Amino acid sequence: MSSSMSTTKVLVSDLVSTVNHVPTNFIRPLDDRPNLQQVQSSDVSIPLIDLQGCDIIQNIRYACQNYGFFQVVNHGVPVSVIEKMMKVSKEFFHLPESERLKNYSDDPFKTTRLSTSFNVKTEKFANWRDFLRLHCHPIEHYIHEWPTNPPSFREDVAEYCREMRGLALRLLEEISESLGLKREHIVEKALGKHGQHMSINYYPVCPEPELTYGLPGHADPNVITILLQDDVSGLQVLKDGNWVAVNPIPNTFTVNIGDQIQVISNDRYKSVVHRAVVNCNKERISIPTFYCPSSDAVVGPAPQLTDNDHPPLYRNFTYNEYYNNFWNRGLSEETCLDTFKN
Ligand code: OGA
Ligand code: NI
Repeated sequence: MSSSMSTTKVLVSDLVSTVNHVPTNFIRPLDDRPNLQQVQSSDVSIPLIDLQGCDIIQNIRYACQNYGFFQVVNHGVPVSVIEKMMKVSKEFFHLPESERLKNYSDDPFKTTRLSTSFNVKTEKFANWRDFLRLHCHPIEHYIHEWPTNPPSFREDVAEYCREMRGLALRLLEEISESLGLKREHIVEKALGKHGQHMSINYYPVCPEPELTYGLPGHADPNVITILLQDDVSGLQVLKDGNWVAVNPIPNTFTVNIGDQIQVISNDRYKSVVHRAVVNCNKERISIPTFYCPSSDAVVGPAPQLTDNDHPPLYRNFTYNEYYNNFWNRGLSEETCLDTFKN
């Protein structure tokens, strides 16, 4: 079909059945393509941590210092909650176009919205992704905005969000301890009233996955991200200059340190660049929970981690300032952190 027809579709999920090539606005320049052949793919790509095992704090410290990423098993989140979350997400993205589009907005600061790519208002290239983004803490402030179709959406997602909040708080306590801070430091001192967002990412089958991205390389702006992925690969992490695939393991979550942990830790831990690639066989769903400070929270290096030999590398800022910066400048392998350096 002609490209003029394809551009009439707002979402990639609806465009995909009308094309057998990637439309030009999705095509990356030659020096900015995924090079899918070059990616390292081994079974154990990033550390896997047993949250009921021994030496959890040491394992977290090792993973944060060397990868910025780890996977967790025995995390305590019931399988039934995970399965319902994945099922209702798939059902949502399989609803008729007109039903899904009721939730559409291109305004990144709307607290509930369906959109596509990353920021369609500012970006040069489109990404092969649709996403439903929800704010979810405190849940009662936002749940009335959420979709009501599929009928169990609000209940299933709310249950999942509560579990994710519990897991995020636990991991933040362990990360605090691993930095030599008081266990409750991050949770009680650094995040203000706390925030929690989630994205349900839908990556349709792509006819030419070598030409585009689901999401190009970026670091997450928040505190920590807890990612649930289905059984289709796509996540890749930058490690020592190489892209490493993080293949899904059933009933595990992939956790990564966001920019705010890099700031709080005064660069002891790094927020690592990652991306999502697409494929020509299977649609993929990934569901990141972004745990974050509230927008009025003032973030800066923990005073306990700075001294004459380790001066604070970042100035204090509000999370609102950081978050606006992230959405307005577009995804890039150069993190926004530089803007906030001392
Ligand atoms: C993100 C992200 C990775 C994935 O949404 O920030 O990095 O595998 N997603 O979808
Ligand atoms: Ni990310």
